[in-house]
Amino acid sequence: MKPLLILCLALFGLPLLAGPLPAPDAVFRPLDMAEVRLGQLLFYDPVLSGAGTVACATCHHPRFGTSDGLSLGIGDGGVGVGPARVFDAVNPPEQRIGRNSPALFNLGATEFTTLFHDGRLETDPSRPSGIRTPLGADMERGFSSVLAAQAMFPVLSGDEMAGHYSENPVAQAVRQGMLTGPDGAWSILSRRVAEIPAYRAGFDATIGPRDIAFSDIANMIAAFVAFEWRADNSPFDAWLRDGTPLHAAAARGMALFYGKAGCSGCHSGQFQTDHQFHAIAMPQIGPGKAARFERHNRDVGRLRVTGDARDTYRFRTPSLRNVTRTAPYGHSGAYPTLERVVRHHLDPVGWLNAYDPAQAILTPPAFETDFSLMQDRDEVAAIAAANELAPVELSEPELADLLAFLAALSDPASLKGRLGVPDTVPSGLPVSD
Ligand code: HEC
Ligand code: HEC
Repeated sequence: MKPLLILCLALFGLPLLAGPLPAPDAVFRPLDMAEVRLGQLLFYDPVLSGAGTVACATCHHPRFGTSDGLSLGIGDGGVGVGPARVFDAVNPPEQRIGRNSPALFNLGATEFTTLFHDGRLETDPSRPSGIRTPLGADMERGFSSVLAAQAMFPVLSGDEMAGHYSENPVAQAVRQGMLTGPDGAWSILSRRVAEIPAYRAGFDATIGPRDIAFSDIANMIAAFVAFEWRADNSPFDAWLRDGTPLHAAAARGMALFYGKAGCSGCHSGQFQTDHQFHAIAMPQIGPGKAARFERHNRDVGRLRVTGDARDTYRFRTPSLRNVTRTAPYGHSGAYPTLERVVRHHLDPVGWLNAYDPAQAILTPPAFETDFSLMQDRDEVAAIAAANELAPVELSEPELADLLAFLAALSDPASLKGRLGVPDTVPSGLPVSD
């Protein structure tokens, strides 16, 4: 209560804001440091990709705020890291990945029970595995959290880590639909890891001498992500905890965020997310998300998960922690700067209609699908019609204050990473630093 009073009385004399200001009470799961250290090596090791060329860190790198600095990332078929990642001349990807690679901050907090831009992975105690996934019964068991279950997916995606051409056993198994069982993609990868003595020793020390399942690998990676990128020590957190004042512009921006600008209607709670789904007329670039039998480059977001027409073009509210460092923004990375994505919120349909694709951060060559959707007036009109975000009028100084508040959500220790990037990994494959 104290910080709330300080804000309301000392700064603005605003009426007491009813509830939107969060309490500093996030719950983080306890972690085992042996698991965290093993997870660090696995996260940076390309051994988990079919062709041995892509690591989790390829698209989630600390140098780019645990993302990759690209609107739409490049997994298998690319070389380099961050915005400098380009297509491999010999084995280029078939298309871009359809969505922006999200930042990984605070995913060890227990309130993150829904993952991906469309929330297709969710904690669900009514299921035997405790998790609802698009794989249904094909999913393994034994996860420590939804964050661990998530790590099962990128290794199966041809575009991300598995690879495309039936050139490696993992890609072949995925293509044949073999995920579980001794010849399934997950077992192939687990055996690869088990054959590397340093990994076997690491698992002996954490799970004991039994066979390594891919869910064990996933649990270690989740422990690392939760430890490495916990980000609850920003100036905003200090203010929440004991009233340590924010600097004047950030304090004014906070009052706007929780007041007149209406941001906390969706970006609520300690991490500025309600974990819900909203349609905000975000421009759509790239291949979108079509089912295998469909021919379009739309991304209808949450609708694909629930089948409920009200969910059309709804996407998960992203947390805004460290948001100054996680560009580009939006589920397809349409906006390259924080200022632009915030301005989009002030006039969503206006900005959608005026969207200039030249601002996307995509490495050449161009694909036919890169900007074709935004050239189709009916498609753009459909995105606009679903918009639920009301325009807001802010003056230029107010916008500057709002951006100053967003900057006060940065936690320097989390941006640096706690264990950092390892010099080498047990497979001996190169590590992107
Ligand atoms: C080629 C790029 C790429 C690689 C490699 C990759 N990811 Fe991702 N990651 C993405 C994209 C894109 C999404 C969002 C997909 C979506 O929402 O549909 C994502 C989503 C996630 C999320 C969900 C975050 C959230 O808040 O919803 C987590 C966690 C994650 N990745 C961890 C990992 C781990 C662990 C690995 C390695 C096993 C990995 N990623 C490999 C691109 C990548
Ligand atoms: C109606 C709910 C809603 C309101 C109100 C709202 N946002 Fe958002 N915001 C979202 C959703 C949903 C997304 C993601 C949309 C997407 O990816 O297509 C988002 C994305 C963002 C992003 C990009 C983050 C990223 O990692 O890509 C920023 C920054 C942001 N919002 C800031 C704000 C600010 C500042 C305000 C107040 C002016 C605000 N939002 C008001 C729902 C909302």
